[in-house]
Amino acid sequence: RKKVRIHHFAQMKQRGEKITMLTAYDFPTARAFDEAGVDMLLVGDSVGDNMLGYDSTVPLTLDEMIPFARAVAKGAPHSFVVADLPFGSYEVSPQQAVESSIRMMKLSGAQAIKFEGGRRIASQVRAVTDAGIPFCGHLGFTPQSENALGGRRIQGRGDGAYDEMLADALALQEAGAFAVVLEMVIAPVAEKITAALDIPTIGIGAGSGTDGQVLVWLDALGVGDWHPSFSHQFAQVGAVMQQGAAGYVEAVKAGSFPSEDHTFDE
Ligand code: KIV
Ligand code: NA
Repeated sequence: RKKVRIHHFAQMKQRGEKITMLTAYDFPTARAFDEAGVDMLLVGDSVGDNMLGYDSTVPLTLDEMIPFARAVAKGAPHSFVVADLPFGSYEVSPQQAVESSIRMMKLSGAQAIKFEGGRRIASQVRAVTDAGIPFCGHLGFTPQSENALGGRRIQGRGDGAYDEMLADALALQEAGAFAVVLEMVIAPVAEKITAALDIPTIGIGAGSGTDGQVLVWLDALGVGDWHPSFSHQFAQVGAVMQQGAAGYVEAVKAGSFPSEDHTFDE
């Protein structure tokens, strides 16, 4: 299997082949998903809430994210690895965005950068792509600006919402983005934006009309006891982990582990 590269995504959109993306935050998980043939791995800033127990994506820093991105890049010889820039590391200026992106690229080994917003960060995106760094956009519900959006709300509803989102999507495409994530966007709007863009759209809670799909892996593989309504549990990893750990506890308590097989003789 060949390494997935930036030009493959445009080709996949052209031939109507769906693009697959999952989040990943560590080496063994990246290895499993790379082996499974996932096209793109996203080291999302959702690492803050999913792995570090934060209440939102807002507190996470760039320095905190880098070791997770490095572990994923090491574990993914074939999948295309995209790293998020966290809140506060790109909004100030194009220079800040380029400096943060270069730092992430150098220290992690990821192949692309993603951050949130449309027209308001288009000059940042242009500066990042001019620096030779592939960029993926993120529109619709953008968790880093959750406080300004008034919570986790579905996007694209109401008069003018499509026109606004399309203007944002076109600004990202114009600034050199190679793809754009659409999060919690009503399906007809996501579909129309997908048709209007040359670059692929990757949906999460945006229906089946996008060029690709992304999910947070803990939601998709059933690690926690909750997942958003737009996600689906393709496995029950949490239950398997709990059973395995319970079996270990039982065997040690009963004295059946370690047996002779696991024991070094003189
Ligand atoms: O951080 C993340 O997991 C994301 C996806 C939800 C797209 O940005
Ligand atoms: Na994110």
